Amino acid sequence: MSSSPGPEKTALITGASSGIGYELSRLLAQHGFNLVLVARSAERLAEIARELATAHSIKAEVVALDLSQPEAASQLFAEVKRRGVMVDVLVNNAGFGDLCRYADSDWENQRQMIQLNVVTLAQLTRVFLAEMIQRKSGKILNVGSTGSFAPVPNMAVYAASKAFVLSFSEALSAELQGTGVTVTALCPGVTKTNFFKRAKSEKMLLRRLNQMEARDVARIGYRAMVRGKPRVVSGWFNKIMIASMRLAPRGAVLWVSKRVMQP
Ligand SMILES: NC(=O)c1ccc[n+]([C@@H]2O[C@H](COP(=O)([O-])OP(=O)(O)OC[C@H]3O[C@@H](n4cnc5c(N)ncnc54)[C@H](OP(=O)(O)O)[C@@H]3O)[C@@H](O)[C@H]2O)c1
Repeated sequence: MSSSPGPEKTALITGASSGIGYELSRLLAQHGFNLVLVARSAERLAEIARELATAHSIKAEVVALDLSQPEAASQLFAEVKRRGVMVDVLVNNAGFGDLCRYADSDWENQRQMIQLNVVTLAQLTRVFLAEMIQRKSGKILNVGSTGSFAPVPNMAVYAASKAFVLSFSEALSAELQGTGVTVTALCPGVTKTNFFKRAKSEKMLLRRLNQMEARDVARIGYRAMVRGKPRVVSGWFNKIMIASMRLAPRGAVLWVSKRVMQP
């Protein structure tokens, strides 16, 4: 797939109402994709759909849905079919974290995180992948994290969920070689979005060290997806951090990340 999709190609983006998902939606619109924008905030999605449709002469539609509910992926797929939309690019971006000791955590919040970050992502990939393989064409971009590469104390479930995203995406990208379908994991580090507010981690030390703009992270992810790369880490700071984590003993990585990730 070239950077310009040709006529009537559609991208579905989860978590399109803010942050990295909004910026990815903007980029896809700029490159001529029609959009299906998914998140819970119906009004914000409708505003974005109007803005992008007008600015880039594309069609943009909205599905307001809570993707942390067990039946959400099936509902979304059914709704997309009902509207007669064929999805050429699937962006599994919606996700959230929660900075807290696991023993003190709200289980319902942790369950929703696993459902959204892992189960819905895997199920959406499964249902849309089948059609893409049949058409011998399609791209999937799954948003992981630098937390995909190591355990993170005080964000244990979040980092484990993002380890799933990376492992799952890389394995799929190998499985799919020769099918015309590619899967890419985008692993951002700290990025200026609403993520930290929702994760109750606005004062976190790591956040003060290095923050990327959501627009730059989206551009890096988009480019890697178009090239069909199995994974991409955003920014030189995050690349160096991950290379160091790989060289250091696991115990040292845990020691440092426990100190950086204080609730
Ligand atoms: N910001 C960072 O530093 C950072 C670092 C590494 C990875 N990431 C990952 O990047 C992705 C995007 O996050 P962001 O940083 O752009 O944060 P964000 O601004 O909070 O955006 C999160 C998006 O996900 C949607 N979302 C959250 N819960 C949802 C639910 N239950 N159902 C449907 N949509 C839901 C939100 O929309 P509604 O609230 O309208 O539902 C919003 O559009 C996430 O997967 C996150 O884990 C972020």
